Amino acid sequence: MIVIAITGASGVIYGVELLKALKELNIETGLLISDPAKIVIKYELEDYDLDEIKSLAAHFFEANEIDSSINSGSFKFDSLVIIPCSMKTVSAIANGYASNSITRVADVALKERRDLVLVPRETPLRSAHLENMLRISKEGGIILPAMPAFYHNPESINDITDFIVGKVLDVLKIDNEMFKRWEKP
Ligand SMILES: Cc1cc2nc3c(=O)[nH]c(=O)nc-3n(C[C@H](O)[C@H](O)[C@H](O)COP(=O)(O)O)c2cc1C
Repeated sequence: MIVIAITGASGVIYGVELLKALKELNIETGLLISDPAKIVIKYELEDYDLDEIKSLAAHFFEANEIDSSINSGSFKFDSLVIIPCSMKTVSAIANGYASNSITRVADVALKERRDLVLVPRETPLRSAHLENMLRISKEGGIILPAMPAFYHNPESINDITDFIVGKVLDVLKIDNEMFKRWEKP
C-alpha cells in the first residue's frame, strides 16, 4: 500500500492528481489529509469537495485520530508520499515530533526503513527549512520539490502537475508515461 498525505502547503492539486494516477494503475492507497490542508483545499480546489478526494483512495484515515491503525508501527504500508509537504511538517519529521498521524507515519517510515517521499512547496527557503530537508535526506527520505521542468513544453496546468506526479512515480519505481521524457531533438 502507498500512503498519500496531503498537508497545508500550496499545491494540494498534486496530491489529488497522484491519487488519481495510482487509482488508474490499480495500486492500493491510504489517504491522510491534515486539518490545514482541508482549508487550503477549499481555497485552491473549488471544483472538488473533500468527500470526492477521499473517495480516490481505498482507505481514508483522519490525520488527528492518533489511535487509528495507521499510527502503529505494525501497520503494513510500503511507501509514504507527503504531497504537497509544508515546512511545518518537514520540521516535525526532521525532529521526530510526531504530533499527528502524518508525522507519525513518516516517523515509522524512517525508523522501519520504508520509502518516504516529501514534495515540499515553499519559496524562498530559510536555513532551517534547508537543514531540516538535509536531515531527512541523510536518513534516506527522498526530497522531491514541487519544481516542474519546462523541457517537455507544458501547455496546461495539468501538464505541470503530471510532470511532478510522474517524478514521484519514478522514485517509487512505478512505470509511467505521465510526461514526455527528454530526448535530444
Ligand atoms: C492558502 C495557504 C497556502 C499555504 N501555502 C504554504 C506553502 O506553500 N508552504 C508551507 O510550508 N506552508 C504553507 N501554508 C501554511 C501551512 O498551511 C501551515 O504552516 C500549517 O500549519 C501546516 O500544517 P500541516 O503541515 O499540518 O498541514 C499555507 C497556508 C495557507 C492558508
